[in-house]
Amino acid sequence: MNTPLRFALAKGRLEKQCRALLTRAGYDCAALEAPGRRLVHTLPHPERVPLEAVLAKAPDVITYLSRGVCDIAVAGKDTIMEQGGPFYELLDLKLGVCRFALAAPEGSAFFEGAEHRRVATKFPAIARRALAALGIDAEIIRIEGSCELAPLLGLADAIVDIVESGDTLRENGLVILRELYPLSARLIVNVAAYKLRRAEIDLLIKDLKEVMADASDC
Ligand code: PRP
Repeated sequence: MNTPLRFALAKGRLEKQCRALLTRAGYDCAALEAPGRRLVHTLPHPERVPLEAVLAKAPDVITYLSRGVCDIAVAGKDTIMEQGGPFYELLDLKLGVCRFALAAPEGSAFFEGAEHRRVATKFPAIARRALAALGIDAEIIRIEGSCELAPLLGLADAIVDIVESGDTLRENGLVILRELYPLSARLIVNVAAYKLRRAEIDLLIKDLKEVMADASDC
């Protein structure tokens, strides 16, 4: 039996770091280095079942995994928190470490007064939860990308967004009002796949934990 484990991988910032981790775990990731427009790639391993890497947009990774067409996936905790779903979250890969924050233009009086507040975000479910926890009543405005633009243009008073280096906030005159949740990439596993292929998935997790421990020793 050499049936590949189908592995959904979010395209973008996490992709390169995941590729490096899988390479260290012994997978041949050459196909991912110059993928062209091809979206599915086989990653062989000398001693393990191969991985069939599926490159997808972050929110779609959760859909493919939850619906059982992929066995395992790497997704950011941001996407996991926003979408939820029936899957197991089995490993914090400690990649793509960043955080969610509430931010607003420097000098803003976001917490003062009782006027109608508007918060722009790519993550409405998370924003709603975070604002409720802070006791703030606000209208949530959903934005698809670069929500830092919304306060600049007067569409919103604040944003709830991912902050990594802080450069995007700084370069657009925004400051963090509250740090909300820490974020990093997680390995998630389809519930049925974990029943059917548990030994192979546990072996992959063990391999990944070992290379992560080696890296933290350096
Ligand atoms: C994220 C986030 C911020 C930016 C923060 O967007 O939504 O805009 O990164 O990063 P920084 O703190 O390092 O500046 P991303 O680049 O993922 O692009 P997107 O807007 O297309 O989602």
